[in-house]
Amino acid sequence: MKFFIDTANLNEIREAYDLGVLDGVTTNPSLMAKEGIKGHDKVMAHYKAICEIVDGDISAEVIAVDYEGIIREGELLAELHPNIVVKVPMIREGVKAIKYFSDKGIKTNCTLIFNAGQALLAAKAGATYVSPFIGRLDDIGQDGMQLIEQIVQIFSNYGYPTEVLAASVRHTMHLLQCAEIGADVVTCPLNVITSLLNHPLTESGLAKFLADHKKVNA
Ligand code: E4P
Repeated sequence: MKFFIDTANLNEIREAYDLGVLDGVTTNPSLMAKEGIKGHDKVMAHYKAICEIVDGDISAEVIAVDYEGIIREGELLAELHPNIVVKVPMIREGVKAIKYFSDKGIKTNCTLIFNAGQALLAAKAGATYVSPFIGRLDDIGQDGMQLIEQIVQIFSNYGYPTEVLAASVRHTMHLLQCAEIGADVVTCPLNVITSLLNHPLTESGLAKFLADHKKVNA
């Protein structure tokens, strides 16, 4: 399973990459705004900076919602670095653009997926990744994890090469359930990745080992 970090914060990206387990990064306009990145040149420079930290797929989202606009923005993003994946919203124009990018060999991540039909459509258009949002479905009382299961099953039935990128992952249980189901990728905040390190018995066990070592080596 691949681990992506869902942030535009360069320090968090560096920290996750330094751990040696990071395979890529996803961003979105809200995450870019949170870091105060605005204006075309600054946005492009920020994506380049991310590509220089992480050797893996970096999703950069288009803002346009019309076909020509999505193509224009996506091509500019793709020219930035070979690891850029053009993130396209699940809308009619987006699906058409995914087909265009796929034919041109440009990688895409179809975002804002909330049902299996949307995922199937994106896969048929040739998306590299689909991003079903688990947490946001849970927030409205629907079962986000069930959607991951459904999409993994459908893609496996037909051998679609599109990867299931579980998004809106809020805690380690989400991540582990995705791993059990067989999602190809999870994208999550840094704290979800670092939380995997922790167990109170690991902490107390290590403290005891070190104390016992000190006793005999004093
Ligand atoms: C996916 O690529 C999105 O950036 C993200 O996972 C959304 O997560 P949120 O629902 O926590 O904002």
